[in-house]
Amino acid sequence: MRYLTFALTKGRLAKKTMDLFRRVGITCQEMEDPDSRKLIFTNEELGLRFFLAKGPDVPTYVEYGAADIGIVGKDTIMEEQRKLYEVMDLGFGKCRMCVCGPASAQELLRHQELIRVATKYPNIAKDYFYNKKHQTVEIIKLNGSIELAPIVGLSEVIVDIVETGTTLRENGLSVLEEICPLSARVVVNQVSMRMENERITGLLKELKKALE
Ligand code: PRP
Repeated sequence: MRYLTFALTKGRLAKKTMDLFRRVGITCQEMEDPDSRKLIFTNEELGLRFFLAKGPDVPTYVEYGAADIGIVGKDTIMEEQRKLYEVMDLGFGKCRMCVCGPASAQELLRHQELIRVATKYPNIAKDYFYNKKHQTVEIIKLNGSIELAPIVGLSEVIVDIVETGTTLRENGLSVLEEICPLSARVVVNQVSMRMENERITGLLKELKKALE
């Protein structure tokens, strides 16, 4: 039997994913060791392989078939625009993609001013401002701590993930517009979906049952 390979998003999402997999009998002893720096794990009996990757790389591994299945946030799927099938919403990792900033930026948004938007998600920001709002903006790509941008005057607003809202609150910012809800999704390589259809659909059915 060929290994089915899973690409998991390193960090919190991987932990929640393994919790769910454990409930359907998919365990991976090796992965439980918190001190391990190992990147790939196998379950020989079930013919499964798991590896941990940075979120934005998960859709890449899946598109090229280096992983058959990926577990990744909807934000990353939207941003990366890879060719793959999004087959299931796992319902955890829930948060929202939002336009945020100081309250004073509300007016700039309303009047369609040419503002600067800092974000880790330039494609999502572009799609939202250009295609949905028909507002011309300047998009500035950052790699983290996006909330800094409006505080130090790099941009008027940001497009970022809001989970609890704590980061915004503690930095004097708030949600100005909501773009879309987010959560963890299962994505599948398009060829794997055909070649391994029975195994993959069987697995998805079990996951769905465990989530109910
Ligand atoms: C994310 C996001 C926000 C924060 C939102 O950042 O970019 O900064 O979490 O969560 P909250 O609403 O619960 O405060 P993350 O911690 O992933 O790191 P980053 O700043 O490097 O992107």
